[in-house]
Amino acid sequence: MKVGTFFLSSLPILFVLFSETFGYTWPSWTDELEDIMYLQGGFFHRGFHDGVSPCTFSTSRSPFRNGAAEWIRTAYHDAITHDKSSGQGGLDASLRFEMDRKENTGTQGLNDTFGFFSSYQSIRASMADLLALGVYTSVRECGGPVVQFRAGRIDATSPNEQGVPEPTTDLDTTKQQFAKAGFSEADMIAMVACGHSLGGVHGNDFPEITGNNSEQSFPKFDSTNGQFDNAVVTEYLASNTTNVLVIGPHDSNSDMRIFTSDHNATMRTLTNPNTFRTTCASILQRMVDTVPSTVTLTDPILPVDIKPASIKLSLTNATHLRFEGYIRIRMTERQKQGPIPEQLELPYKDRNGNQCPACVITAKPSTFQGGSGLGFDDWFQFYEFGVDIPSQIAISSFNVEFNDESHDNGGNGFPIHHEILDQPSQSCLLNLTDMTIVAAVRNDRVNLPTYADLEVKEFTQGVVGAVSITSRKVEMQSTGKVLGDYTFFSGRTTVDARTGWFTHYDLVNGEVKVEFRSSALFQGGTSCPQIP
Ligand code: HEM
Ligand SMILES: *[C@@H]1O[C@H](CO)[C@@H](O)[C@H](O)[C@H]1NC(C)=O
Ligand SMILES: *[C@@H]1O[C@H](CO)[C@@H](O)[C@H](O)[C@H]1NC(C)=O
Ligand SMILES: *[C@@H]1O[C@H](CO)[C@@H](O)[C@H](O)[C@H]1NC(C)=O
Ligand SMILES: *[C@@H]1O[C@H](CO)[C@@H](O)[C@H](O)[C@H]1NC(C)=O
Ligand SMILES: *[C@@H]1O[C@H](CO)[C@@H](O)[C@H](O)[C@H]1NC(C)=O
Ligand SMILES: *[C@@H]1O[C@H](CO)[C@@H](O)[C@H](O)[C@H]1NC(C)=O
Repeated sequence: MKVGTFFLSSLPILFVLFSETFGYTWPSWTDELEDIMYLQGGFFHRGFHDGVSPCTFSTSRSPFRNGAAEWIRTAYHDAITHDKSSGQGGLDASLRFEMDRKENTGTQGLNDTFGFFSSYQSIRASMADLLALGVYTSVRECGGPVVQFRAGRIDATSPNEQGVPEPTTDLDTTKQQFAKAGFSEADMIAMVACGHSLGGVHGNDFPEITGNNSEQSFPKFDSTNGQFDNAVVTEYLASNTTNVLVIGPHDSNSDMRIFTSDHNATMRTLTNPNTFRTTCASILQRMVDTVPSTVTLTDPILPVDIKPASIKLSLTNATHLRFEGYIRIRMTERQKQGPIPEQLELPYKDRNGNQCPACVITAKPSTFQGGSGLGFDDWFQFYEFGVDIPSQIAISSFNVEFNDESHDNGGNGFPIHHEILDQPSQSCLLNLTDMTIVAAVRNDRVNLPTYADLEVKEFTQGVVGAVSITSRKVEMQSTGKVLGDYTFFSGRTTVDARTGWFTHYDLVNGEVKVEFRSSALFQGGTSCPQIP
């Protein structure tokens, strides 16, 4: 299924009721994950679904692999070793340290999954959250229901206990393993049926099950491998299934043992396609929400209604600031009222928090790629602006107005910090590792503590992706260069060559924090740009 074909399937009722995203104010630490989740295609697309689009696509581009199935299996193998009584383990990406265990046979798909997700990892997107987002994305890409995504998982830095059931594991032990992780017998049956809607068994990993050790031997669990549906259930009950975990050798027919363990009662309920969808949405969400007891998950991440994007406020010369960026408007329901608004008005408040009459910015629809960002069930129109504002006036917040709507971000407007300004065009990254971060600090604030909190990734040989992501304080000192109302500060540090161009930082000056800035716009070359 292609992103951009809206309303192809169930639009969750919840989304229709609220035009504002309930309880959300901008900015939020979940903005990054919300972007990855809802900007799958189009303008500003994050391309997360590219690894599973179309549904049978694989990043290794082998016709004998199914990426969407691999993503779901990876989340399952990570989550199921949770111990509910001790609160340990669960969806925490510890699987990356458990690849050599027999119970995780078939590591290529697991490793490929982590490999794809690793380029999305950041201090705001843990590998474990990306695994959960991967279940939402792959199920939805394959035409399945919305598996709600909550954020906040923390990555493990070492292996967890064993306990993934194998095809040869007896039924009692298998039930105990699911029970230990918090799942009943009926949960277990549903979870296996939902999981085994996609993909199949690989002969090179399980030759004793497929009867053929060839890479091309890949018997599917059902006749609709490219579709998240209940064919795995109906074909099992009709006794014409191709699922080798049902019809294969007796000692490894785990699906047969599991499906029949309640005399097919659960499987019979799943013959109703709607029951299958709602059951899978619920059990797969419980699976990805199986987390260590130290983790607190957010409410489900819903599409944000009005969201600034790529906002930049920088000092250009002794008298002016440059303010530019984008505003994203969710059009999913608004399109029923008519075409996209012709323009947005952004009335703003000056540096003292006062509304000045002439302080209105106009934002026009972005035209590149139609200016629209596409999710599975939502679409967004982007508007862009770029203005020069006198430093004496500056900006502290703005509202968004169009047609007869006015949005003030829950009361106080969309906040913009003018106390400390990010100056990526004076910042630099030399030789991939030698980083200088430059900011402009308002002259009356130069004595406040000023530093950058820099995202730092740590890697371990043989483990895919960053093993941990922390932030490191980089002290910033005045350079002594003054331009109008601002003084330039800089901080220098050494970064990992693999991450230098993809790193993030917060700028802090006293109580003010300019968050999640990107090093992608830094200057390269052999020397840093002159500070004016
Ligand atoms: C007792 C429980 C289970 C057993 C014994 C089991 C066993 C297996 C085996 C042997 C394979 C073949 C793997 C390969 O060749 O790459 C497989 C594939 C798969 N399993 Fe399970 N599984 C179980 C439960 C689950 C659950 C609960 C889920 C998810 C909710 C799941 C999702 C998948 C998926 C999506 C595949 C296809 C992978 C691919 O095509 O690459 N499994 N399973
Ligand atoms: C194994 O599978 C491959 C690919 O499907 C096939 O070409 C080969 O003949 C099979 N080998 C046996 C022994 O069945
Ligand atoms: C399996 O059998 C059922 C019932 O006879 C039939 O409707 C269905 O088309 C069959 N499916 C396959 C894949 O053979
Ligand atoms: C469950 O369904 C399968 C497949 O139709 C059948 O072989 C088996 O006998 C059934 N088991 C029970 C207990 O009904
Ligand atoms: C500073 O920049 C603004 C906006 O580009 C421009 O209008 C102004 O003339 C510039 N001032 C000086 C002194 O260069
Ligand atoms: C960058 O690397 C080159 C070649 O290794 C070296 O000559 C130069 O001094 C380095 N520059 C910096 C700023 O570290
Ligand atoms: C997974 O990939 C990493 C990095 O590419 C590699 O070092 C490791 O050996 C792989 N592990 C397995 C089990 O394939």
